[in-house]
Order: sequence, then structure tokens, then C-alpha cells
Amino acid sequence: MDNKTLLEKLNSLSIEEKIGQLIQLTGDFFEGDMDTVVTGPLKKLGLNTDYNIYNTGSILNITNPEKIIRLQTDYLEKSVHKIPLLFMADIIYGYRTIFPIPIAQACSWNYEGIENAASIAAQECYEEGIHVTFSPMVDMVRDPRWGRVMESPGEDTLLAQKYAQSVVLGIQGSNLEDGAVPANKIAACVKHFAAYGAPVAGREYNAVDLSEHALREYYLPGYQAAIEAGAKLVMTAFNTLNGIPATGNEWLNRDVLRQEMKFDGVLISDYAAIEELIMHGYAEDETSAARLALLAGVDVDMKTAVYANQLKNVISGNDYMLELLNEAVYRVLQLKNDLGLFEDPFRGLQEIVKRSTSSILSDEHKQAALSLVEESVVLLKNENNVLPLSKETKVALMGPYAEENSTLGMWAIKGEQTDTINLKTGLLQLVGSDNLSVCRGSYLLPPDARETFDKYADKLAVETGSEEVLLQEAIRHANEAEVIVLALGESIYQSGEGGSRTNPTLPEPQLRLLHELSLLGKRIVLIVYSGRPLILTDVAGKVDAIVQAWYPGTMGGEALANILYGEVNPSGKLAMTFPRSVGQIPVYYNELNTGRPNLKENGSYRFASRYIDEVNEPLYPFGYGLSYTSFEYTLLTVSQKEMKTNESVDIRISVSNTGTYAGKETIQLYIRDKFASIARPVKELKDFKKVFLQSGETTIVEFSVDEDMLKFYGREMEYKSEPGEFEVYIGSSSQQILLSFSFTLLPEDKHE
Ligand code: BGC
Repeated sequence: MDNKTLLEKLNSLSIEEKIGQLIQLTGDFFEGDMDTVVTGPLKKLGLNTDYNIYNTGSILNITNPEKIIRLQTDYLEKSVHKIPLLFMADIIYGYRTIFPIPIAQACSWNYEGIENAASIAAQECYEEGIHVTFSPMVDMVRDPRWGRVMESPGEDTLLAQKYAQSVVLGIQGSNLEDGAVPANKIAACVKHFAAYGAPVAGREYNAVDLSEHALREYYLPGYQAAIEAGAKLVMTAFNTLNGIPATGNEWLNRDVLRQEMKFDGVLISDYAAIEELIMHGYAEDETSAARLALLAGVDVDMKTAVYANQLKNVISGNDYMLELLNEAVYRVLQLKNDLGLFEDPFRGLQEIVKRSTSSILSDEHKQAALSLVEESVVLLKNENNVLPLSKETKVALMGPYAEENSTLGMWAIKGEQTDTINLKTGLLQLVGSDNLSVCRGSYLLPPDARETFDKYADKLAVETGSEEVLLQEAIRHANEAEVIVLALGESIYQSGEGGSRTNPTLPEPQLRLLHELSLLGKRIVLIVYSGRPLILTDVAGKVDAIVQAWYPGTMGGEALANILYGEVNPSGKLAMTFPRSVGQIPVYYNELNTGRPNLKENGSYRFASRYIDEVNEPLYPFGYGLSYTSFEYTLLTVSQKEMKTNESVDIRISVSNTGTYAGKETIQLYIRDKFASIARPVKELKDFKKVFLQSGETTIVEFSVDEDMLKFYGREMEYKSEPGEFEVYIGSSSQQILLSFSFTLLPEDKHE
């Protein structure tokens, strides 16, 4: 449909019909069941009794294709305007084929793999009738207490940008002709605008206080990358940003998002966030909440009655507000048009459900998931090369995650635990049962933990048997084995939305098991399942190896077995720092130097920026991850030591695999701006290359540093570089810098 016809369509609508386009409800409103309500406050909406449900513009979290066909058919029959419904859902890291959680994916540093995962998720969504997914979430995060770390690409701005771009391209495709979303693709929604990942003290939904500089420098570029990749929607955030709730923030959503960042798609509120403007103490009542949200440019009201009940009053007699309403409705119609819904309200779904073939959970999809897990897992410790294991070694597998299928993480709303290859199954497939014994060893959570899980309490496994009996059985198994493979972790319900923790450690019953096993003098390989970096400092001292598995999704057990037995060489590198202790949080690699850095040569100098009871360094830094092989970086050559703004410094290094296993290495390039008009971080990731090398093989890796990589937001928020000296560090993690040099960016007057 061309723009003129779309505009005519808009003008043909009554006020009620226009407002309806901005309302998003869950499917139960159409069918009277609540099974599609997966999140948010479960309360009756309080819609006015004269609200015409057949004006509603979109539906949230219905994922059944037959149901979608039924609802769309019924809706088109009964609505006067015949504008198709949009179906949106949270398909965050896989529909039925569940990939590793986003923080894990970010540890792969493989953005083709990440794009492919998003593309597979979109394909499965398309075949099931979903039009929009609320992904990617690119809320940069430095605080592992926050539960939604699992959904984030971690602490670094460049990784957030890469993740945003890859996921949007995977979901929507590239080169959209006239903005049309092609078949097999759906629309992407980047979230949560803005800075939702920086709540005070890591507590979910808490206030965010950020300088404008930090907001622009670190937090906005991730969302910007998604917008530049074409994301059709943006979702607002629940939090306040410097005192003003994001969902009612005109400056943020109109000046910054629409004008500066050039976003012209649909801005949808987060779940009930418009109504929550009242709780924030920002809107006096529902009318004022509706007015503030519309003024702020929020197009769609997700799951509250505020727009539905109040917008008519808000626009009555106010031409400016009417204009804003028209703009918002037009954007929703435009999205429906981009998805081709006016031509085919089912997007091919009627034919798809009749087909006998489906790509859902296909071998190809599972293979892609397997490869991505294999690259997402991070080897944190491997003393005396206890890993990889030999198939002849007698192994005792134990711990609550040994046979656990619930390793999909909290946002796998269509993932089936029965599809999961758990660790035991993965090991049996690979090595058989001759040298493998399996037992549980401990409860997952303390027996009294259940009540703190609220609506998820019923989903927790019911533990049977006494803890003492489980422990004695574990000790028996351990004594008969040469190596203990101990699969521990936090419950999936301890992370995700609403899963903030003050003490992100392994649960207490599991720590007890680990402690008892550590007294036996056996070698222990610990596998950690979690949605965030846990504090592993005490634990690390008691084991020989640590494998960070995150929540690995459908193919987790197979991938982990391949890694444990050396079929695959681990190559994941941390996208987020692992603190040594809770008190260090937030601890991240790109910090400022301070006026009194804690220099080693100063020993325990009292008046340095340090703790008196803990070192400053984390347990495992950003960018860190071990391999079964070793890599050497040599022969650095640099094209020039002085650079004009229109030039680049070209760098070549030689990277060799000096160990006995083939493997992948991620070579990281960091830059430090030594002096500037504002203090700059001690280092910032600016580029990286992931290479695969056979044992003994050498390759040349090239980087190019240009002016863009040197830019930052200055005092007046101008984005620019400043001449002067820059240090370049090339390393295998943010702490393990193997090569370095410095160069000078020449001032303009030195450019002849
Ligand atoms: C979450 C969003 C999600 C929405 C819809 C909210 O609670 O914050 O990330 O997309 O629910 O389910």
C-alpha cells in the first residue's frame, strides 16, 4: 500500500478506531483464558465498558498459529475498519530451538553466529505467525546483581553495538526494499530505551542516575546501532532516568530518540509502563499519564487501560494532541504495511500450517544452536590441564545440573524442556556409560527458598530424599572416580526479570556439596550454569577447572560434552567481568584512572583508589577465557606513528597457535586516549578478530585505527576526537595485553 492510501486509511478512522490502534492486549481478552499472560502485573485492566475490543491494534504473546489464524479471521470479520491485528511476542533467543542466553552469545564474539541464531528464531516465528519480536535487548550492564544480565550483551559498548546490529539483521533481514519486511523475517524491537541496565544497586526497576555524558558515551550507542540496522520498533524502559520516567520523557524519546538518533518507527511502552507513571509520582492520574506518554512520543500502550480510557479526553479540543495521535497511529499503520498485512493479514500462515514440512527444531537449526553454545562457553580455570578429559578416565558426574533439562533460561517462552539435551545425555552420547557414573549430590536451592520465588515457586523442582543421603551417595561416587564433574548453578528463576540478587553466589546446598567433595583430594571440574557472573572466588580455590556454561539452551549438554572431552576447544571470552566480591560491584574494565590509581609500585599505599580488604582486580576480567591450546602474538608492525584525521594507522601482527590443539582465538584491540579535555578510560575495546588456527599454524591479523575510533563525547556533548597521544593495546583479554604501541593524532594545523 502506498503512503497516500495509508494516509487515506488513517483519515477514514474514527477517534475510537485510531486510539484502538495504539492499544496492545493479551489474547485472553479475545478468548477468556489467561494462558498467554506471561509477565507483568496480573490485574484486571479496568477498560471502560464501552471499549470496543475489535478496535485493538495488537496482541501480545500469543504463539499458537491456529489460534492466530482464528483470532485474525474473527477480528477482521467483526472490526469495522478491517485493519489486521499485529501479533507480537518475546522471542528473545530462540522460538523452539533455544540458543544460549544473550550474555552467553556475547561471549562467543562470533557475530555471524549470533545473526544466524536471530535469523533462525525469526524463521521459526514467521512459520508460527508472529509479526514482531521484542528483541534485541541491548541494555548495557555493569552490575551482576541485576537479573536481566542474562538478556544483555554485557558491559561493553562495542559488543552491545555489534550484538544489536547482528540481531536486527538476523530478525528483519537487510536491504529492506521500501522498508518491507521480507517473508521468513519479522520486525525487531530494540529495548529498553534507555539505560534500563543501570538501576541503582542492581535492583530491578530501580532508578537510573547517569550523567548525560555516560548515557551518550556508553549506553545509547547500542540502541543507535539497532536503529541504524533498521529496527522497526523501540520499547521504552520502566526506569526513571535522572528523575524522569523513561516512558514519559519527552526529551529522551522525541529529542534524542527521534530527532538525534533518527528513529521513525513505532515506540511501544514496556509492560504497563504508561500506567506506572502514576506510581513513579510523575503523573497525577491516568489522564495525565496518557497525556505525558503521548507527549513523549509513546505510540503503543502495552497492556494498560490508560490510552484506551483516557486519550479521547486528552485530545479533545487540542489540535496539537490530535496531531500527535495521528502521527502515532500512522506509525502503527506503517508497521502493518511494512509487514505486508494489508495484502495478506496472515503473512502466508494459512499455507504454512497446511504444509507437511516445517523448519522448527530442524537438524539445521539445532546444529546452529550447538555451534553457538560451543563458542559461548568460557573456560575460566584449567589447572594442570585437567581438561580435556580422556575417554578412559573414570568420571563421576554430579550436582543438580547433571541431569537438568531446565537450562533454557527465563525467556524461552516456547522452548520445551523435553527437547533439551542435558549434560548427562550429552556425555552418554559421546562417551557411553562405562566410565561414567551419575548422581544428584545436593538440592538445587535451600528447602526454604521456595516462598521467595512468588509466581515461579510452583515451577521449582520438588526435592525428594534427605540432603545427607544425597551427599553420602555423592561421596561414594566420587571415591570410585578419578575426576568429579560437578554441574552446579543458580536456578533459572534466580535470574531474568525480577531476579535481582544481593549475593550472586552458588546456592548454599551446592556450596556444601562442593566443600565436602573438595576434602576428598579428587580432581574437580566445575560446570557453572547461571544467568550472570557469579561470585566464584572461594569456589575457584576448591576446584581444578571451571567451565562457565551460562544457560546453554536446547543443545547445551552435547556442546559441553564436546568441550569436556576436547572434541571442541573452548574459545569463549567474557563479555562481562566476574567480580571477586560483591563489594567490588560495579567492577568493569573501562574504568577511569582516577587521580590516585592503585599502582603496584606503591604497595599498600593508603591514599590510593583501592580497598583495604580486597584487591581492585576482578576474579576474571572482561575479554578473558582460556583455551586448550596456547597462542603467541608477535611481529607487530605499525604503518605510522603520526596520523592525520583522514588517515588510519594500519596494524599487522602475527598470531601463532603454539599448542597441540587446533583452536579459535579472539584478538582484542584496546585504545587509551592519554590526555583529553575530559578524563578518558584506561582502555576501551575498539576492535577484535576471531581466528581459527590449527596446531602450529600462524596467521597475520590486521587492524586499522581511524579517527572514528578515537572520538568521544566532549564537555558540550559534541562527538569528536582530540589530537594527542593514544596508546594501543593488543591482547587476549582486557588484562592480558601482549603487544602495545603509541601514536599521535595530529592537530588540524599540522595537516598540510
Ligand atoms: C519486559 C519486556 C518484555 C515485556 C513483554 C516486560 O515485563 O520488561 O522486556 O518485552 O514484558 O512481555
